[in-house]
Amino acid sequence: MTKEKLLELLKDMSLEEKIGQLVQLPPELMGDDAMATGPAQSMGITYEQIYECGSTLTVTGAEKLKKIQDKVLSTQPHKIPMLFMADIINGYRTIYPIPLAQGASFDTKLSEECARMAAKESSYDGLHVTFSPMADLVKDSRWGRVMESTGESVFLNSEMGKAMIVGYQGKDMTEEGSMAACVKHFAAYGAPMGGRDYNTVELDERTLKDEYLPAYEAAIKAGVALTMTSFNTINRVPSTANKWLMRDILRDKMGFKGVLISDWGAIGELVNHAVAADKKEAARLALEAGVDIDMCTESYFANTKALIDEGLISEELLDECVLRILELKNDLGLFENPYRFADEAKAKECILSKENRALARKAAGQSMVLLENHKSILPLSEKSGKVAFIGPYVDCKHLYGFWSLWGRDEDTASVRETVDEFIKTGELSEKPSFAQGSNFLKKGEKLVQFGGYADIPENEDEEGMLNEALNLAKEADTVVMLLGEHAFHSGEAGSRTDIRLPKPQRKLLDEVSKVNKNIVTVVFSGRPLDLRDVKKRSKAVLEAWFPGTEGAAALLDVLYGKVNPSGKVPMTFPRNVGQLPMCYNELPTGRPNNGDDTNRAMSRYLDVANTPLYPFGYGLSYTKFDISPVTLSSDTLTKDTSITASVKVTNVGKVTGSEVVQLYIRDKVASVSRPVKEHKGFEKICLKPGEEKTVEFVITEDMLRFTTINNVYESEPGSFDVFVGNSSATDNKAEFILK
Ligand code: GLC
Repeated sequence: MTKEKLLELLKDMSLEEKIGQLVQLPPELMGDDAMATGPAQSMGITYEQIYECGSTLTVTGAEKLKKIQDKVLSTQPHKIPMLFMADIINGYRTIYPIPLAQGASFDTKLSEECARMAAKESSYDGLHVTFSPMADLVKDSRWGRVMESTGESVFLNSEMGKAMIVGYQGKDMTEEGSMAACVKHFAAYGAPMGGRDYNTVELDERTLKDEYLPAYEAAIKAGVALTMTSFNTINRVPSTANKWLMRDILRDKMGFKGVLISDWGAIGELVNHAVAADKKEAARLALEAGVDIDMCTESYFANTKALIDEGLISEELLDECVLRILELKNDLGLFENPYRFADEAKAKECILSKENRALARKAAGQSMVLLENHKSILPLSEKSGKVAFIGPYVDCKHLYGFWSLWGRDEDTASVRETVDEFIKTGELSEKPSFAQGSNFLKKGEKLVQFGGYADIPENEDEEGMLNEALNLAKEADTVVMLLGEHAFHSGEAGSRTDIRLPKPQRKLLDEVSKVNKNIVTVVFSGRPLDLRDVKKRSKAVLEAWFPGTEGAAALLDVLYGKVNPSGKVPMTFPRNVGQLPMCYNELPTGRPNNGDDTNRAMSRYLDVANTPLYPFGYGLSYTKFDISPVTLSSDTLTKDTSITASVKVTNVGKVTGSEVVQLYIRDKVASVSRPVKEHKGFEKICLKPGEEKTVEFVITEDMLRFTTINNVYESEPGSFDVFVGNSSATDNKAEFILK
């Protein structure tokens, strides 16, 4: 439909129709028994009105959504199709690694391909919009939603978010296999005080602008169709009512022209934030901030007409919101094809296809991070002798993380099942022994999930499990511990004050380490954990994150050397929770810690080293890479020139592997204090043994800009250090001057 036609449609719509477009209904209202459920009454909505609303979420299935669309088209005076949205975060039915693990892969192309796969599977099942990518910068692994981010690097988050948007949306959202993407949570939701979800965010404006906003802006420049507001306050004003953030920054400065949707219930929560006396005032504040869609509250539905009748909101303001929603539906081709790509047969053929499973397995293999590998105990081979796999992840099939609403155990093979499969197909010759060894949690401990307690299996006979495991460990030459958080330990509202492995698993590892020293520990988690004990008791440590539907196969690929691990830490692993928040790009402070432990008067803790356990960008390989000293094409840069930083990378080991070569820059003296390093580039290269490659990074003046003391985003002349290495801890540097 042309823009003119859209404007004519808008002009022709009644006030009720316009208001309906702003309402996103909870999934429970979309069933045939909608009026039987509580939310209908609580939203004060009649059965007919349900089909006058503009969108819903979390309802899937080609035939089901076609039926709903039919009802909508027969109810709507102007036959405006409904939008079907959902949280397709790391896959729809074929689940690939959680976003934090994708960050660890440093492979944007792979993330783009995975997003495309998710868009195909879900759009054939009738969906139009995904609430992804999450571009929230994170520095505190107490926060459960770090699993949904790609980590602590502004640069990496920006690149990953752009790749996912290209994957979801393609070049044109009327193309088959595409869907609209939604960048979230605007803004700075990843910086809650204490790492406690939904908590207050206290950030100075310079840090907000220079660190927390750029990844959202990159998504907007990449053409993301929607933005979602965040639950938190910015400058003590909830984002959802924050006109400065939503109009001055998002719309005017960043140029976002798409649909702004609230997070679930966030408009109604303005009353809890105590900035609105009631939902009518909440609706006014959100409309004035330019929030187009009210996700799952009756604030807009019940109050917008009164706000207009009372002259508190203009109909022009309402029309602004409605037009953006109509434009989104138009961009998706819904007016021409209200079913879009809903197709049961194609969904059946595409979902969990061999190709999709292979892609998920590849992505999982690229995301795992080898943290320790003493005496090259990995990869496993005949030299490993008898191998025992021990831990609650031996038989666990929930390898797909928190935000995999349509991931299923029955689609996911456990490690034990995959070993059996590999033995059958000959991919594995030696069958290891298996023992669970411990429960996930302490006896009787519960893990609350949305809608009640998670159903986590618990074996009463803890002692028997432990003894069985110890007997295997005594007979084995090598023990592979399969330990970790449960998927529901992270994700939304998954904040923890203790980021170690659950106690029964720490005990299991401790006891096994008393009878066998050849321990490889695989950690499944949605966040960087405190792995000090794991490191102490293991010769090798492999971070597997939540690797998805094909995660067990990918894990065996890595453990047995079919895949050489190449993941890098996307978010700092602290020594303990007391160090948090912690990140690679901290400011130097007036008393930088020089490591001299006899010096008390520096920024330090008395009881733990200031350094992380594993820094951003760190990760080992089964081979070894030599990186030459960095050379610069010039030691002087101007606004009109560029400098090329080069290193020669050589695979000096015995097997092919990939290295992530990383670029960091330090502004050594500026009008405000600047980070000790800023991540500005990376290139992942694959080299055969003996092969070498020159890696080059082009440095330009715009990469040196920041919000100066004059509150202007600009660079300042002066001296800069350039670092190129295989982690943020690199000291391989050269210096240049910006004139
Ligand atoms: C949730 C999350 C958001 C998600 C939305 C819809 O509360 O904060 O990330 O997309 O609601 O499920």
